[in-house]
Amino acid sequence: MSLLVGLMIHPANLDFYNCQSRHIPMAFEADIVQRHQHLHLCENKYAMQLSLRIDVSKTIKTAFVKFLDAFVDHVFEFIDQPLLPIQSNFAPVDEMRAAVLIKSIEGEIPDDFPEGIYIRNGPNPPFGGFKSTKSLFARSSHIWVEGEGMLHALYFKKAIDGSWTVVYNNRHVETESFELEKQRTRPSFLSAIEGISLAILSAYILNLVRFGAANGYASNTTVFEHSGKFYAIAENYLPQEIDISTLETYDEWNVNAAWNLPFTSHPKRAPESGELVIMGFDAVKPYYVVGIVSADGKILSHKVDLKFNRCCFIHEIGVTEMYNIIMDYPLTIDVKRLLMGGSFMKYQKGGHARIGVMPRYGDADSVQWFEVESHCTLHLVNCFEDGNEASIIPSQCPFSFTQTFQQITHKSVLIRKFDFLWNK
Ligand SMILES: [Fe+2]
Repeated sequence: MSLLVGLMIHPANLDFYNCQSRHIPMAFEADIVQRHQHLHLCENKYAMQLSLRIDVSKTIKTAFVKFLDAFVDHVFEFIDQPLLPIQSNFAPVDEMRAAVLIKSIEGEIPDDFPEGIYIRNGPNPPFGGFKSTKSLFARSSHIWVEGEGMLHALYFKKAIDGSWTVVYNNRHVETESFELEKQRTRPSFLSAIEGISLAILSAYILNLVRFGAANGYASNTTVFEHSGKFYAIAENYLPQEIDISTLETYDEWNVNAAWNLPFTSHPKRAPESGELVIMGFDAVKPYYVVGIVSADGKILSHKVDLKFNRCCFIHEIGVTEMYNIIMDYPLTIDVKRLLMGGSFMKYQKGGHARIGVMPRYGDADSVQWFEVESHCTLHLVNCFEDGNEASIIPSQCPFSFTQTFQQITHKSVLIRKFDFLWNK
């Protein structure tokens, strides 16, 4: 589960060098047509201008980034952030990057236990743990779901004589933002989730301008498989392909450049077709988009904006045989509210909540919405069809979002069932 939310702006969009170099060739080409008799002369002239402009742009960019780095280093201080007692299990562990044999096992592995790999993904902040950032804009803090993802893998192998060999390995998911901080050898992303609005806003903007993202990509929530490939994911960015044997990180997966939005931590495989049903929410429009990826993982066969009028932090999508199950509850993310001095993310107690039943290839107009009591559902336990009835079994969080994550206990989660009759 991750709280990370952000505008997905690639660093290239903020790259002065790239912006300049994209525009020059068109002018260059036009000039060649007009002055074809002096083609070589023009080429040389423009080559010189191009080189000069790129150098100037690079210089400006480098100077600007250095200035911002100096500003952040001077104005912001990263402070170790103690974990609450109930969060001690989330303290970071050292990275191993190599498998070790487990020599001591308490209890016994059952004879009929399957051979295979168990992988867990979770936040594991580098640099010794979470950091608050303190500045003249006040203080902002990390919440425990923000650490960079670490994969923990147990490999179970059974010999002919029935004895078990168990091997353990762990490794960080090496996202672009993880690599960036590793290169800089210090925490670099300012905490942009929890704190007063001015602190959040300044952290948000500085992260965007310096790194092209409001938060690190983390990739710390789950691992899923599609079409024989495995991915680590957190919902503020794209999945990272991983090698489950070595825990090595490969490239991001954007479905052949067709999906450029955040990607749910809990995509679902559609029964029968094997397609992958995905969704993404964002702080800017479109707020909520549903996608269908082909069973072979190569084609985004459907992508539709459900035309939400607000951004909700929606962690999960459900599937039944023929339908996608959409949740809409009042845990909202609002840049305008932040600018007005309010919370960036807020559980609006008593706010509007509904559940939608959407044909697999439907659109905003074909979703049948059912009003439900105000609540927040982060996870779905199950969804299924029975004739004209759909049953949705969500686990609900009755507290505010931040409170839920800081104080979560089993008692804070309710399981309940919604049954809907709808027109097929
Ligand atoms: Fe989750």
